[in-house]
Order: sequence, then structure tokens, then C-alpha cells
Amino acid sequence: MALSNPTSIGLFDSGLGGLTVLRGMLRALPGHNYFYLGDNARFPYGTKGTDTIVRYARECAHFLLSQEVGVLIVACNTASAAALHVLENELSIPVIGTVGPAVRQALARSRSGNIGVLGTNATVASEVYQQAIRAADATTTVSAQACPLFVPLVESGMLRGEIVDKVVELYLAPLKERGVDTVILGCTHYPLLLESIQAFMGPDVAIVECSDAIAQDVVSLLGEHATPTTAGSVNYFVTDEVGRFNFLASAFLEGQAVNAVRIDSF
Ligand code: DGL
Repeated sequence: MALSNPTSIGLFDSGLGGLTVLRGMLRALPGHNYFYLGDNARFPYGTKGTDTIVRYARECAHFLLSQEVGVLIVACNTASAAALHVLENELSIPVIGTVGPAVRQALARSRSGNIGVLGTNATVASEVYQQAIRAADATTTVSAQACPLFVPLVESGMLRGEIVDKVVELYLAPLKERGVDTVILGCTHYPLLLESIQAFMGPDVAIVECSDAIAQDVVSLLGEHATPTTAGSVNYFVTDEVGRFNFLASAFLEGQAVNAVRIDSF
């Protein structure tokens, strides 16, 4: 597929989670122009049905296309699980999702093939992770766990402390009991709870997320265009209030200024 505007990269998520992917992109490809859409008016995606998530994903993608992005990253596992194939079929630019890159990392890290996957209700119910892991290696054992309280914790800015540790224990204890040696954070919000998740699982368990692998995929996709030619920029858009998004996003991005623009319709 020809790359029309390789220096402009669009990302979307239901809110703040996709910033973990943006952070990986800014590390790997700093000199590009990023367009980040947080669909906070319709957050959370993980409790919605497939048809609704597909509709949201289409609308987010079309908004980003109107910004003339040349590459689209679906920086949301729930949207990737429900709508990646739809977007790949319908759009004329390369579309990169979260599942393939995260599975690749997990298979590379796991020694025992006993792998845990955490995700939203929708992602776990879709079984995309379970199927992708087994398709890549039929000898693996996969235990998937929905963690519906993680996203509201992150969106409330609650990333550590007693309550977070209790919720982490609630969801991770079954995986620990099953002796998984690798855990996939199958939701882009979850890396923001990494500290507590790693502390509960212990240092011998690999905790894997998709952002670095996505960045590698984009670098190879861009080829010669991967070399930065400008200082780069990030444009943030949200579908609801900007104030809270700006405050939390700036904290997640280590104090970088975030001035999101609110869009009222797609
Ligand atoms: N960050 C998203 C994901 O990766 C969505 C969370 C949500 O809106 O429920 O699944």
C-alpha cells in the first residue's frame, strides 16, 4: 500500500489509554506529526457491544483521516478486537492494531508457554487474543481475565495505592495461581497500572504491552520515511471536556503540555 502522508500518524482510543502507545511512538519516532483522538464522550468502549464499538472506531478513523494522517494506529485493544479487520478493509491507508504486536512480544518472552491475558470485557469476550496466541503456537496455555475496574481507576487518575493493589489482587490472583510466566496487558490503559501489577506478580513474570512492538512495526512500515526530518508535533482531540483530559494526559506524559481541542461531531 502506498504511503500518502508518512509523517502524519493518527491514533485513537476511548480516552487516556492510547497515550501509552503515543508515548512509545514519541520515543521511537519523535520527528513526526501525531494526531491523537480520545473519544472520552463515549468512554468506556469495553462494556459496549461489537456493533457499537465498530461504529465508534469508524467515526474516530474518519475524523483522523480528515486530518490527513498517512498511518492509523488503533491505540485501543477493544477497538482493535472489534474493528481492526473492518478498518483494514475500508481504509486506503495502513492500519495498525494492538493485538498482533502484543502477542508477538508475549511469545518471545514466555519460557513456559503459560500466558495470561488481561483485557476489557469486550476484548476478552471477543477471544481475539486467545485465538491469536493459539494460532501462533498451539502448545501454549492461555488464561484470559477481564478487568472491568482497571479502566475507571486509570481514568480517575488513580494509578497506585491500597485500592489499586486490592483490585490488582482481585483480577491477577487466578493467573498467579495458574503459574503464568507472562501477562499481556491487553488494554492500553493497563500499562499505567504496571507498578502494582508487576509488584503483585513478582519480578519473574514478564508483563508485556503493545506499545514498543507497535512502534517497531511503524518504523519498518515507514522505511526511509522513519528518519525524523522535523521537530514533530502532537495534536490532541477529545469528544468531551478538555480540562480533565489535559491535566491527566500531561501527568502521564511526564509533564508535557497537552492542549486538546474538543470536537463536537464527527
Ligand atoms: N484503552 C482501551 C483498550 O485498550 C479501552 C478501554 C475502554 O474504553 O473500556 O481496550
